[in-house]
Amino acid sequence: MASNLRATSDVARVEAPVTAKAYMMCAFASFGGIFFGYDSGYISGVMGMNYFIHLYTGLPIPDPNDAAAVQAFTLPASQKSLITSILSAGTFFGALLAGDLADWFGRRTTIILGCLVFIIGVILQTASKGLGLLVAGRLIAGFGVGFVSAIIVLYMSEIAPKKVRGAIVSGYQFCITIGLLLASCVDYGTQNRMDTGSYRIPIAIQMLWAIILATGLFLLPESPRYYVKKGNLEKASHVLTRLRGEPAGSEYIQQELAEIVANHEYEMSVIPQSGYFSSWMNCFKGGLRNPSSNLRRTILGTSLQMMQQWTGVNFIFYFGTTFFKTLGTIQNPFLIGLITTLVNVCSTPISFYIIEKFGRRPILIWGALGMLICEFLVGIVGVTAGRESQHNTSAVQAQIALICIYVFFFATTWGPGAWVLIGEVFPLPIRSRGVALSTASNWLWNCIIAVITPYMVGSDPGEGNLGSRVFFIWGSLCTACFVYAYVLIPETKGLSLEQVDRMLEETTPRTSAKWVPHSTFAADLGMTEKGTLAPEIIEHVAHTNKADETSHV
Ligand code: BGC
Repeated sequence: MASNLRATSDVARVEAPVTAKAYMMCAFASFGGIFFGYDSGYISGVMGMNYFIHLYTGLPIPDPNDAAAVQAFTLPASQKSLITSILSAGTFFGALLAGDLADWFGRRTTIILGCLVFIIGVILQTASKGLGLLVAGRLIAGFGVGFVSAIIVLYMSEIAPKKVRGAIVSGYQFCITIGLLLASCVDYGTQNRMDTGSYRIPIAIQMLWAIILATGLFLLPESPRYYVKKGNLEKASHVLTRLRGEPAGSEYIQQELAEIVANHEYEMSVIPQSGYFSSWMNCFKGGLRNPSSNLRRTILGTSLQMMQQWTGVNFIFYFGTTFFKTLGTIQNPFLIGLITTLVNVCSTPISFYIIEKFGRRPILIWGALGMLICEFLVGIVGVTAGRESQHNTSAVQAQIALICIYVFFFATTWGPGAWVLIGEVFPLPIRSRGVALSTASNWLWNCIIAVITPYMVGSDPGEGNLGSRVFFIWGSLCTACFVYAYVLIPETKGLSLEQVDRMLEETTPRTSAKWVPHSTFAADLGMTEKGTLAPEIIEHVAHTNKADETSHV
């Protein structure tokens, strides 16, 4: 019902039909997800490789029949923790810094810069033969991943046509899952090498993703919203004609540009801009009671990413292999890890369709419900089948099947949904920082969970030794995600970013799906006549378009 209303409303139609070329241009940016997935995925495999452990600890490679020696042949926990978490530290600060860079130099330039920083970090890691250089390399690469992961979402949300914005940003999540899968495959291929190639190949391959992304972005246009923010309407209009594949002077282009400009002017009038620190402070202004305040939106974006980590998905991807080993009857835990990664990749494309068909809010609510049921069931099966359900093959198989269904729910709902929404809920003056803060929150919680989980399931003295019961914790946290989605997630499907801004001001999350755009910022600010641009802006755009025709970039 709401979708029909949104589709038929006159004021909702401020955008051109999507051409295949425009679609491809926007979709290419999702390639940045490969960085995210690969970089977070490859390290656990490398830290388990014999040659790598031997190089870092000096221990001789054990005889596979000597169980005690095999058990002792591992990196010290402190080194594992440092090597893993230093990346998240880099990405956390990189994401925060990226918000500023994206406003100063542009979204596209910041992503290209992120690729260069990342390549430097990868070169250092590849050259490393010891902890110091490896850690330094991961910290620097982390900054690059932080730039890319924060700004890609911002860039894609700003250039994508609204009808397919959700699907396009979900493409980013799809690439994250492909990155995770590629990392497992490359690790698998090199794990038995007894030379530096075992870890250097998985590390060095990442440069390829950076080169492809940076080269592609050189050819793509900057975000029109960045140019509007900079007050350069000529360039904004030029890039819009390229992105929408519409002829110069098209009414669609004029209307879309007018709405971006008017919304920005409106936001600037209510969000005073004065100085660097106060512009950061703007992200926290407006009070808690006002549902559309900047503070509320910042809390929404950062808590949404926190909740995405609370679903427990990275327990499966980071510690799944170790967990499956503790279940006892599993012959090849690595293979089960690969299966969950494959379920993740194959299910994600379903989100391209459902995120636009049903909307963001329902899929987050139903997704959380599906995940929490699976998680509680894994815990219940584990507990009722006996401690660790060892020697009970059917119970273990049931647990694995439930974990795969859980991954399916995550991949089709919260995986893409969290990224799509953070690109949509911030107004332009604070959008780059809001998205950056939300991405930093994802990395922060990612890191916290990576650090504490081994202690929850570890069986050394003083550790939790929770086994399957850890799923009661994830199930409870997922219940919090379910309530959170029901109470706080607004429906943003089918609206332009400017309409989302207005919707948040005029409605509550629970009634948001029924909200219909009833006027435009451009009309309200007197910038349009009967839905088109005012004469002075038309003249301005026409002038720009003439220049475009002669110098088609
Ligand atoms: C999450 C990651 C997770 C991945 C799994 C992403 O959306 O932010 O932490 O590893 O999905 O596919």
